[in-house]
Amino acid sequence: MNILIKKASEINKIIQSCKLATEVLEMIDLYIIPGISTEQLNCICHDYIINVQKAKPATLGYKGYPKSVCISRNDVVCHGIPNKNEILCNGDIINIDVTVLYNGYYGDTSKMFYVGNNISSKLRKLCNVTQNSLYKAIKIIKPGLRLYLIGKTIQQYVENENFSVVRNYCGHGIGKNFHEEPQILHYNAYDYGVILQEGMIFTIEPMVNIGSKDVYVANDGWTVKTQDKSFSAQYEHTILVTKNGYQILTLRQEEKNILLK
Ligand code: MF3
Ligand code: CO
Ligand code: CO
Repeated sequence: MNILIKKASEINKIIQSCKLATEVLEMIDLYIIPGISTEQLNCICHDYIINVQKAKPATLGYKGYPKSVCISRNDVVCHGIPNKNEILCNGDIINIDVTVLYNGYYGDTSKMFYVGNNISSKLRKLCNVTQNSLYKAIKIIKPGLRLYLIGKTIQQYVENENFSVVRNYCGHGIGKNFHEEPQILHYNAYDYGVILQEGMIFTIEPMVNIGSKDVYVANDGWTVKTQDKSFSAQYEHTILVTKNGYQILTLRQEEKNILLK
């Protein structure tokens, strides 16, 4: 296992890229209304990243992925492809996942958005549990922690709330590469003995389903959906392991209050 330890100059660049990715999620919020298409949202994000941020949308062309963000709606688990024929409806939940490349380094983050005001209490709970599972995992991070405890923490909490954790996709180290070691599993698995060290940077990005954990990839080769058509949520942060704990590099303004609690 080759987990890169980032030096201060690199950390500063990754902080910059993460800030840009975060700002895309903050910027797009007011466009998320019933009637807009996921392709329109993609275009707004694309233009903002290119023209305002002078950065690159990392997913565009990545292994052939055709769009600048991923938008995953309702029973789509992740890697949803924005489409002009996919129109948001009151009551939908969507994840927007933004990865930005700036100055040679990547930043990666995603969150759920409610479309309109008619979101069922079950879906609100799904989103809240997913977000809290991410926070619970982040809060245990510090040098010396055994890596597998991140997944164990997420799975225990999610299953206690009677939802399921998707196994097929994981978080990842990030920096000069979009995806690098280590893999960050969101469920309890074998303890490979990996121990966190100051200067590691990785994402945590749990995907949580209302029904079964099982998923499949659609015919487009990208869109991941739940097998049982139950709805799914995901939140993602990029995290730096610091001397005494962690720093969330993709923290949004709206979260600064929540996390102090
Ligand atoms: N942003 C995703 C992640 O969190 C990866 C998307 S790859 C794509 O790792 F090709 F589907 F865009
Ligand atoms: Co990621
Ligand atoms: Co992502």
